[in-house]
Amino acid sequence: MDISENEFNEITSYVQSKYGINLKKKKNLIVGRLENYLVRNGYKSYSEYMKKIKSNPTGEESTQLVNLLTTNHTFFLRENVHFDYMKNIVLPKIYTAEQNKKSIYLWSAASSTGEEPYTIVMTLHDYFNSKPGKWDTRILATDISTQVLDYARKGIYLEEQLKPLPNSWKKAYFDDYAPEKKRVKKSVRDDVVFRTQNLMQPFNFKNKFHIVFLRNVMIYFEENTKLELINKIYDCMLPGGYLFIGMSEVLDKKIKNFRYIQSSIYQKI
Ligand SMILES: C[S@@+](CC[C@H](N)C(=O)[O-])C[C@H]1O[C@@H](n2cnc3c(N)ncnc32)[C@H](O)[C@@H]1O
Repeated sequence: MDISENEFNEITSYVQSKYGINLKKKKNLIVGRLENYLVRNGYKSYSEYMKKIKSNPTGEESTQLVNLLTTNHTFFLRENVHFDYMKNIVLPKIYTAEQNKKSIYLWSAASSTGEEPYTIVMTLHDYFNSKPGKWDTRILATDISTQVLDYARKGIYLEEQLKPLPNSWKKAYFDDYAPEKKRVKKSVRDDVVFRTQNLMQPFNFKNKFHIVFLRNVMIYFEENTKLELINKIYDCMLPGGYLFIGMSEVLDKKIKNFRYIQSSIYQKI
């Protein structure tokens, strides 16, 4: 199925305005991911498909568009320096500061298939289980793709995917599930609340966060989109809270009120 310049522009403008994702230089990606789907579902053209989507922007077809066009690559212990920093620097501070409440508010803001939030919870369990008192280690994990969230909730991974994890974690935090498959233990799964959240939409969280992971999602966002998002994130963090972004990402100097700590780690002033 051919895609005209107009159709390509219509799709990229729609995706950018609704989801922040700039795919203007990604024609191959768009065609590669949509063409089969359109043919299988009886669409005659990309414009017919877009008409259907625009007629119901919160409908099933729109959900499917997001599922098809987002890039969800992730893995356990990705950019391990963040988990080390969290364990060695951030958690000890929170442990001292929150002795009364014994709660930690943490958000994995583009959680994809779950490897990131589960790595975070394993880090929390490792740290807090050796401490006296019962801490609330539940975290929020959100993504725009319903498909990755469904996958993440199940917590089932190939043994191959567990390779980056230390053996002690594989033993402590996974159960056998099927040949060559493991499942994240219920005690870890129960500590992750998965929800849909489009980062372009307003946030409505009950509590402010000590820590936000916003990693490898801004890659396709333009500077002004990033700036708006970071300001919104700032508003839902506690003073002194930590923000982790992807190691290949940088924040503009205009970002207000965040102290640069080291590459990809910032602290709300
Ligand atoms: C490459 S994954 C990153 C996963 C994980 N944070 C990591 O660093 O390994 C990017 C995720 O961002 C999500 N995403 C893209 N645009 C989004 C938006 N506007 N709102 C929420 N999530 C979005 C995608 O669905 C995808 O799962």
